[in-house]
Amino acid sequence: MGYSVIRWWDGPVLGIESSCDETSVAVTLESRVLANVVTSQAELHRQWGGVVPEVASRAHVEALLPALERALSDARLRLEDISAIAVTSRPGLVGALSVGVTAAKALHFQLGAPLIGVHHLEGHVFSVQANRDEPIPFPHACLIVSGGHTELLRVDAPGQVQVLSETLDDAAGEAFDKGARLLGLGYPGGFRIQEAAREGDPGRYRLPIGVADDPFHFSFSGLKTAVLRLVEKEGDGLRIADAAASLQGAIVRALSLKVSQAMERTGLERLTVVGGVAANLALREALADICRRDGVQLFVPEISLCTDNAAMIALAGSWRLAAGERSDFMLEAKPSAPIVDTLS
Ligand code: KG4
Ligand code: ZN
Repeated sequence: MGYSVIRWWDGPVLGIESSCDETSVAVTLESRVLANVVTSQAELHRQWGGVVPEVASRAHVEALLPALERALSDARLRLEDISAIAVTSRPGLVGALSVGVTAAKALHFQLGAPLIGVHHLEGHVFSVQANRDEPIPFPHACLIVSGGHTELLRVDAPGQVQVLSETLDDAAGEAFDKGARLLGLGYPGGFRIQEAAREGDPGRYRLPIGVADDPFHFSFSGLKTAVLRLVEKEGDGLRIADAAASLQGAIVRALSLKVSQAMERTGLERLTVVGGVAANLALREALADICRRDGVQLFVPEISLCTDNAAMIALAGSWRLAAGERSDFMLEAKPSAPIVDTLS
C-alpha cells in the first residue's frame, strides 16, 4: 500500500536552514526549487578542524538576511509574495537552530504567513523529491548518509517512516571527516577524500569494513582506528591518495553491502540515497551498479541538494503545511529529536 502522490502547499514556500554550518534560504513552489542560496561556514571552522557552535551561531546571524535577499531575488519574488515559512527546528546545534527559528518567527509575525518547524532529517528525505513532475512512488527505502546520521529507513508515505537499520557508532560522514583529518586532508573531509582518492589505488592498503557479521547495523568507528594505525605504521611513507582511496572504498563497500542485504530482506524495489555523503561519486556509482544487478530503482538528489540546504526544508514543510500542520510562536529549537517520533 501507500500513496503515490505528495500534496504540496499551493504557493511559494520560504525555507530556512541553520542547523549546523550552512546558512541557507530557499524558495520552492510545489516540487520546484525556485531559489536555493547556501552560504557555507567551512572556511571559518577550518582552523579548528570542525564546527565550533558559538562561532556557527554568530555566522548564521550575519549570513541569514543577505541569503534571504538573494533567495528572493533569484526566485524573482518579493517578501510579500511568500505564502508560508518552513524552518529547521530540530535536531542540530541549538544556538545555530535558534537563529533560523527566530528569523522564521519574525517573518511569520510580519507576513502573517503560516509557519512550520521541520525535522532536519525529514528535509533530507524530501530532498530527492525536488524538481520532479511525479513524486518517487511509495513505499521505498531511504538511505540517509550525512555527517551526523547513517540510517536506512522504510518510507511508506510522506511522514510515515520506520528505521530499518542505523549506525552503532560513527556516521558515514564522520568516518570521512575523521579519516580526512588523520590523513592531513583537512575539513570538511568527504569531498577532500573523494578528490584525493581520484589518483589513488584502493587496493594498496587494506581497511576493514567492520559490519559483515551484523545484518542490521552499520559501524564505522573501527575504520577510524584502522586509519590511525595505518598513519602510525607507514609514517612519512604513507601514500595519501592510496589511503584516501582505501578509506572511501571501505565506506562505500560497507554501505553497499548493508543496503543490498536490506533491500533483499524487505523486498522493497526502490531506493533513495540522501544526505551529504550521497554527493560522493564513488558511492553513487557503486549503488547504481548494485541496484542494476538487483533490479532496484535508484533515486539520488542533484549534488547541490545532498549537503545541507533550505530547499529540502521548504519541500518537507510544504507537504506538512498542505496536510494542515502549523507551528506557532512557541516553536523551539531542539538539539535532538528522533525521526520516527516526528514523522508519524
Ligand atoms: O548532510 P550534511 O551536509 O550535513 C549533516 O546533516 O550532517 O552532510 C555533511 C557530511 C560531511 O561529513 C561531509 O564530509 C560529507 O557529508 N560529504 C561527503 C561529500 N560531500 C559532503 N562525503 C563524501 N563525499 C563527498 N563528496
Ligand atoms: Zn544534513
